[in-house]
Amino acid sequence: MSLYTIGDLHLHFQTELKTKAQLKGRGWRNHEKKFLKNCRRILTDEDTLVLDGDHSWGKNLEYCADDLQFIMDLPGRKILTRGNHDMFWDANKTNRLNELFAGKLEFLQNNYYTYRDYALVGTKGYTFEGPFYIDRRGYIVGWDEEAEEHAVKIINRELNRLRISFEAAKADGYTKFIMFLHYPPTSVIEEKSGFTEMAEAYGAEQVIYAHSHGEARFYDSIHGMKNGILYRLVSGDFLKWMPVKILD
Ligand SMILES: [Fe+2]
Ligand SMILES: [Fe+2]
Repeated sequence: MSLYTIGDLHLHFQTELKTKAQLKGRGWRNHEKKFLKNCRRILTDEDTLVLDGDHSWGKNLEYCADDLQFIMDLPGRKILTRGNHDMFWDANKTNRLNELFAGKLEFLQNNYYTYRDYALVGTKGYTFEGPFYIDRRGYIVGWDEEAEEHAVKIINRELNRLRISFEAAKADGYTKFIMFLHYPPTSVIEEKSGFTEMAEAYGAEQVIYAHSHGEARFYDSIHGMKNGILYRLVSGDFLKWMPVKILD
């Protein structure tokens, strides 16, 4: 029995891709086949798999049906976090998704799930990604303040959701946490953020994040140990479509 994770499946069994460019890079060819083969090789029905956002390109549940079925058919228990491309998932109606897919999929937002004596907490997260203004030597010399203001609003909303998740687990007596974000915990210009501070305040052992795909983005945020927390990027192409074991 183990806990595995991976993110950014970007399935599109029913969807004509408008944004193919995002998936054109090395490693995306037949990626769902590679992923399925790897899952069948390493996962058993005793395992838990957390899928860390950007599951499907479908614009609503109807257009995601085959993608979600693909996920349901994977071995083991499946827990999903919300990515920025998951249009089927209304942030205010997570309970409804949990009712619809009861016994098949579990949707993590404003709630928590458990694995052994750990609470699995999480939210989509958010980072300010510019636009930045760069000088001739490549140094950031400014950024779009309006865009930053908008980002701060989303970040605060996401921090609230994350706090609700931690507090629900804490109220039930959990003291060990694995924290999932879809977005990286810090932007390319940050050393820390509200998300890293919250992870430290609650004593999360690991912070798992995805969203950074394409080789140029892999090192946008924190990797490895920092202030006693293990940070892991788990976007599918970074992991070469092999779910990573994060707890035995
Ligand atoms: Fe993605
Ligand atoms: Fe994403």
